[in-house]
Amino acid sequence: EQDPRIEGIASSIRVVPNFPKPGIMFQDITTLLLDPKAFKNTVDLFVERYTGKDITVVAGIEARGFIFGPPIALAIGAKFIPLRKPRKLPGEVISEEYVLEYGTDCLQMHIGAVQPGDRALVVDDLIATGGTLCAAIKLLERAGAEVVECACVIELPELKKRLTPNY
Ligand code: PRP
Repeated sequence: EQDPRIEGIASSIRVVPNFPKPGIMFQDITTLLLDPKAFKNTVDLFVERYTGKDITVVAGIEARGFIFGPPIALAIGAKFIPLRKPRKLPGEVISEEYVLEYGTDCLQMHIGAVQPGDRALVVDDLIATGGTLCAAIKLLERAGAEVVECACVIELPELKKRLTPNY
């Protein structure tokens, strides 16, 4: 059975057709952020799920993982680390490239931000193909962390279509 808070969260997200390109239905979480109850319920659902799981690090993916990750990290007593697009972090980094519909992109993480034995939660606003989350998982695992789970607010049907025959 679905948690009763999910309906309010879902209806607070604005869908903008043909943004940023024709054919894309953009899931706009800025309207969720304007609704303090929906925003709090979103964070609370994750905090309830991850409290007591010995998570030591929450890794947020640029850009919207930086909105949902930190309140979850603070509530469960974990450190927060930003996984950033290239050339944003000033320290020494490790990088992981991933494939987009057209071309490639890359996530970077500061070396030393995670230690072997860290238990990580990856946070982002949305999963479509899963390519971004896969790159995040690889970065954390290369640094010796164990990725316990990935948490996203929105799931697009792309991934299910790819994994489910006759979907
Ligand atoms: C969006 C979204 C995820 C990613 C999901 O970010 O916020 O990070 O796409 O797609 P995937 O599952 O197919 O990898 P976007 O690329 O728009 O970057 P931005 O957050 O910097 O705008």
